[in-house]
Amino acid sequence: MYGTIRFEQNPHCKTIPGPDESLGFGRYFTDHMFMMDYEEGQGWLDPRIIPYGPLSHDPAAMVFHYGQAVFEGLKAFRTNKEDIVLFRPDQNAKRLNRSCERLSMPSLDEDFVVQAIQSLVRVDANWVPRKEGSSLYIRPFVISTEAGLGVRASSRYSFIIIMSPVGAYYEEGLQPVNILVEGHFARAVQGGTGNAKVAGNYAASLNAQAIAKENNCAQVLWLDAVEKKYLEEVGSMNVFFKINGEIITPSLSGSILEGITRKSIIHLLKDWGLPVKEQKISIDDIVEAYKNGTLEEAFGTGTAAVVSPIGSLLWQGTPMVINQGHIGELVHRLYDTITGIQFGRIEDTHSWLVTC
Ligand code: COI
Repeated sequence: MYGTIRFEQNPHCKTIPGPDESLGFGRYFTDHMFMMDYEEGQGWLDPRIIPYGPLSHDPAAMVFHYGQAVFEGLKAFRTNKEDIVLFRPDQNAKRLNRSCERLSMPSLDEDFVVQAIQSLVRVDANWVPRKEGSSLYIRPFVISTEAGLGVRASSRYSFIIIMSPVGAYYEEGLQPVNILVEGHFARAVQGGTGNAKVAGNYAASLNAQAIAKENNCAQVLWLDAVEKKYLEEVGSMNVFFKINGEIITPSLSGSILEGITRKSIIHLLKDWGLPVKEQKISIDDIVEAYKNGTLEEAFGTGTAAVVSPIGSLLWQGTPMVINQGHIGELVHRLYDTITGIQFGRIEDTHSWLVTC
């Protein structure tokens, strides 16, 4: 599509962290990165895998000023048969293009994006951890690189993929977290960029996250920007509730990111014959379910953690403790099933895995 991927070996490969080292999230980076540049009139050029290292850009590069920057996140897993697999990378490639379109950035061939990821993972295959629960986090991103301060779409871009070995999100097993229901700040608005994986969405979420921490909460539950009433996302994850036996997640209103884990969970719940609905849910619905004892489980879903159980919701100064702060049965089943598929313990009947 864009020509063969050129390869330049890193002459100074790093020591790969050992199985006893705590990897954390995004602290170590592999020896190589993928890169390709875009020039208006010529398209995407010079796909290459090169030594991981600093980028050099003009201080007037548009990404620094007007924020044309989008990213993706996915993982490579080493299965119990020693295969290295990706989880639904086609979905990340599709979403990357949707994000690029939203920020007036050029699209990429989706099959080529998956091939670029596969090629990079193959080059740095030794970095895919062997320890159960650990994986190689893959971060594709696109930035505008033209130098200039006129407010318009850049004519030059770079598409880059970097990779980081990461530990199990829950080193001591799944942990329920306290969540602050955010009544003031908003994450996104319909017609804005909330349904795209745009770097600025994450920058705009940081002050609320700091307030959550001051309130002894791990993250915020975002409400819609207009009525400050309807639930949107939890931190940078999609959110699900189990109320009176029924599983509910906010419908994709235009300001919610279409999570790949969210989509996979809805698929699994339907397979299992469980009632699942995508609909508007208000904070009042949650308070009512809490009061009448039907709020059974609540959890976030995302690539990093897979599922993150919510132990309590702090709303207007009062905590609502969910399932006595314990992890619900559904959270366990979803976590075990998704990680089971990813690490090869459970058969991949949906063909979600792609071998590298
Ligand atoms: C995820 O939960 O997968 C996310 O998107 C978080 C990521 C920005 C670290």
